[in-house]
Amino acid sequence: MPNDLPGAQNWPDTTLAPTPPLIGAARPADAVLVDKYGRQVSYLRLSITDRCDFRCHYCMAEEMEFLPRAQVLTLEECLRLASVFVDLGVSKLRVTGGEPLVRRNAIWLLERLARLPGLRELVLTTNGSQLARYAPALRAAGVRRINISLDTLRAERFRQITRVGDLSRVLAGIAAARAAGFERLKINAVLLRGGNDDEISDLVHFAVAQEIDIAFIEQMPFGELGHSRRPSFLSSDEALALLQADFVLVPSAETTGGPARYWRIPGQTTRVGFIAPHSHNFCAACNRVRVTARGELFPCLGSNDAVHLLPLLRAHPADDALVRAAIAQSMGFKARGHDFGQRLDAPQLVRFMSVTGG
Ligand code: 5AD
Ligand code: SF4
Repeated sequence: MPNDLPGAQNWPDTTLAPTPPLIGAARPADAVLVDKYGRQVSYLRLSITDRCDFRCHYCMAEEMEFLPRAQVLTLEECLRLASVFVDLGVSKLRVTGGEPLVRRNAIWLLERLARLPGLRELVLTTNGSQLARYAPALRAAGVRRINISLDTLRAERFRQITRVGDLSRVLAGIAAARAAGFERLKINAVLLRGGNDDEISDLVHFAVAQEIDIAFIEQMPFGELGHSRRPSFLSSDEALALLQADFVLVPSAETTGGPARYWRIPGQTTRVGFIAPHSHNFCAACNRVRVTARGELFPCLGSNDAVHLLPLLRAHPADDALVRAAIAQSMGFKARGHDFGQRLDAPQLVRFMSVTGG
């Protein structure tokens, strides 16, 4: 999901990898991605798999057909692609999925990504199911912050939303991540009318008790065609109003380079964010592009325009020039903005979030 938080005032910066990543190394001054509207792209969200061990309703169909292995970027190709983007001025990289930690050898990749010269920040979005196992390795690899998707604290409800997920594993994952000493952890909760609108405060209480951040995300029109999202759509303004009944929330000027607006709870470290692609369009400040697990570059989440990088990578295994050129060209068709607001009812994007990587 689109959102990020700044670093680390409240967390100890503990174990770093034995060889520190080359942070802030010089790169060519002209190597910058700027689109038609003058927005500089400095942030890549890279999906390393379309697979997931959950089947959340708002993200996937019950019976998903996943991509054949040959159509998915190899981990080496992911690394190569990320390195080209970093050369072109990308300084922040978020690894997503599907669920990135179900990809075999994901840690191998993350360790190498963290060391790309010029990369300032490597972060991860996960559903938490594998975190109990991987949290220490992720921290050691150089991942600085993690976003964990969690829409409910009730086991039965969790099972309903994810169709197959086990809440206790995610909670164990959050505990493991806290113990591993990440700079910051954040829960991402999708707002679901009739799904978790009675739990907004509980989720914030949980985040406060865990001393982690939380962001609420308006549901976006992805997934099965023709399946209208309107009945379960809950706006961030409504959620905020629900929360204000239980918490004093002070608007915060903090921005994170991301689309979230933040509130603080006096006396607590937790930040409460709202990501509202429908009600508060944030496209003017967009700094990101996405690459899917099959190597398509989407300059805008809300548009189907994409350029397919995988054939270029494979046709030119030792020469990045054409890949660089294709990425640079994509700046010419980065959409000015999305129109999710008009799309709640009918025409939806014919993509699953698990493909585009949240
Ligand atoms: N609308 C909003 N958020 C979504 N996610 C998946 N599908 C949707 C959707 N349709 C979120 C997940 C997770 C992140 C990877 O994307 O909840 O936080
Ligand atoms: Fe998996 Fe995340 Fe999609 Fe749920 S929202 S099915 S956890 S990728």
